[in-house]
Amino acid sequence: MAKQSNFLGEFIKERKTVGAIAPSSKFLMKKMIGPIDFQKADVIIELGPGNGVFTKGILERMKQTSKLFSFELNTPFYKHISEIMEDKRLILINDSAEEIDKHLKKHGIGKVDYIVSSLPFAVIPKEVKLKIIDKCVKQLKDDGMFIQFQYSLNSKKLLSSKFSQIKIDFSALNFPPAFVYKCKL
Ligand SMILES: C[S@@+](CC[C@H](N)C(=O)[O-])C[C@H]1O[C@@H](n2cnc3c(N)ncnc32)[C@H](O)[C@@H]1O
Repeated sequence: MAKQSNFLGEFIKERKTVGAIAPSSKFLMKKMIGPIDFQKADVIIELGPGNGVFTKGILERMKQTSKLFSFELNTPFYKHISEIMEDKRLILINDSAEEIDKHLKKHGIGKVDYIVSSLPFAVIPKEVKLKIIDKCVKQLKDDGMFIQFQYSLNSKKLLSSKFSQIKIDFSALNFPPAFVYKCKL
């Protein structure tokens, strides 16, 4: 793995945004992207790809005509993914998920099918978190899904206030074990 994508190192430097000491496992990746209907999905958004474990899983399953927009705030992670993933369907953006609407508009994208988020809500300030979730809600198609993992059930209350349906899955085979929130409008 390239030096600049060292997860623990980025966690130590950027504790308030990285929010994890290790990348997610393939088991968690499968739980996160399992709900996606890849035949149907034309546009998928990823928030916080890190070193790209979910990005790779999505690209392997996504149609050739679909697009994946991945928003990564951390520049070393962004550079690492740019170097290792050459795929015309991937639009990698080195900016905060707070700017999701601005970038999608620039690319002529309206509503999207799925949003796969790894954002560490436990350490993100409340106002930033609310801004991002509100923008995700506005950006999702009526039958779309917002999929988020967290290491606790603390986000249940907040997500329940924004989505009408939430199903929670659990991945024990991850460090730390993680909850997967599958949210519909
Ligand atoms: C818990 S890590 C998950 C990384 C990877 N998806 C995984 O599961 O291994 C959270 C990621 O979100 C990114 N991040 C945090 N705040 C962000 C924001 N506001 N916009 C975009 N990315 C953000 C961090 O830089 C980090 O890469």
